[in-house]
Amino acid sequence: MSARPLEGRLVVLGVTGSIAAYKAAELVRALVAAGAEVQPAMTHSASRFLGPLTLETLTRHRVQLDPLELLADSRIGHIVAADTADVVVVAPATARWMAAMAGGLADDVVTAICLATAAPVVVAPAMDGGMWSHPATRANAERLRGYGYAIVEPEEGPLASGASGRGRLAETAAIVAAVEAAVTGRPVRAPDAALRPPLEPERRGADLEGRRIVVSAGGTAEPIDPVRFIGNRSSGRMGAAVAEAALDRGAVVVLVAGTVSVPLPERAEVRHAETAAAMREVVLAALADADALVMAAAVADFRPQRAAEEKLTRRAGLTLELEPTEDILAEAAALAHERLRPRPVLVGFAAETGSLDRAVEKAARKRVDLLVANDVAEEGSGFGGDTNRVTIVVPGSAPERWPLLSKREVADRLLDRVAALLDARDASRQTGQATRSMRATEESRA
Ligand code: CTP
Repeated sequence: MSARPLEGRLVVLGVTGSIAAYKAAELVRALVAAGAEVQPAMTHSASRFLGPLTLETLTRHRVQLDPLELLADSRIGHIVAADTADVVVVAPATARWMAAMAGGLADDVVTAICLATAAPVVVAPAMDGGMWSHPATRANAERLRGYGYAIVEPEEGPLASGASGRGRLAETAAIVAAVEAAVTGRPVRAPDAALRPPLEPERRGADLEGRRIVVSAGGTAEPIDPVRFIGNRSSGRMGAAVAEAALDRGAVVVLVAGTVSVPLPERAEVRHAETAAAMREVVLAALADADALVMAAAVADFRPQRAAEEKLTRRAGLTLELEPTEDILAEAAALAHERLRPRPVLVGFAAETGSLDRAVEKAARKRVDLLVANDVAEEGSGFGGDTNRVTIVVPGSAPERWPLLSKREVADRLLDRVAALLDARDASRQTGQATRSMRATEESRA
């Protein structure tokens, strides 16, 4: 069997109110080590034995505590878990929970998930010896077996009461083995991360501390007259996510905001620039002392040659003469490559419809270190939504297609690359400086 037999699987772990709930933390570790993504769900009494924060930290998933909970995107939490789980494991399962489940009484989130799911269910009971041997519990266990559930029998040993008997939660390894057996031979039910309950962003350290990052976000509005403009559908969500992520990682962020329809992070130095011309000025000025520029704004390529000074009145027809705007990123790249030392890292975005081939050419033409290309016509990508499927183009390397991710996760992965480029830049500068000073010393000796 492979070293990570649960790779790519979503395991929903239901924890119910037994003292053995603390062992759920160890079970999560073992499941994660086997490659699983784990979505925890706890009954209210389980959350008195084990803090949900423990499971959240270990799994990067919000613990589901109530069947009425909605996810941040308004989907019903327990239904999303039920529909996307490859397996549901209830460990520890109390006598009360088994009775509720045997009767289909969905008044806690763990029962609700089990009722709603088509995934296999594994149940690992834990209780006092007398409770386990009671005919009611035996009958409930039989009923659960009748539903096709795998029961991982409790073990003999000392119990919480001080007595000894059969009722201890099975060893973690036995539960993991039952989980693996339950999924063997089945396809992954929801390989697309966007369908699953959302993963909390991985916490990055302060790896951008001391860095100054300029991020542009949103669209531009090119005036036709005092009330009308040519604009686009960009919401600013991607740029705001990059700014937020960079701030969380310790950077100072200058956020150049065009037309935006999302809240902007308060910790950023926000500079409003709603036309291409205004944005050009602000971006070029901010670039001078920046470590990186992330040009996520959807800048207009054309603007009306002249904006009317007065509101245009209704007429039979109207022809607008358009002229090209400045290419801000190309100008910023020219400035950076030719004049700024150390040179800031340059990141461009490219919204394409259809083939992404043009992105490769665009990355070279715009002289960026990295171009984030996305097909805005593709489902889950593009304007306004919370997710994005992007391809990363680094000039001279093969394009890298990333899976469908939240915009925040795209932002963090992008900043991983920016941080690495900055570290490499600084390391080579130090080596360069050392070489230069060594040469100077040798020359002065000669
Ligand atoms: N960009 C810019 N200034 C412009 C237009 C675009 O700085 N006037 C930036 C965008 O912010 C983005 C990148 O250039 O980071 C690519 O934008 P895109 O519109 O895809 O490229 P274009 O230069 O417009 O190329 P084309 O029209 O050929 O697709």
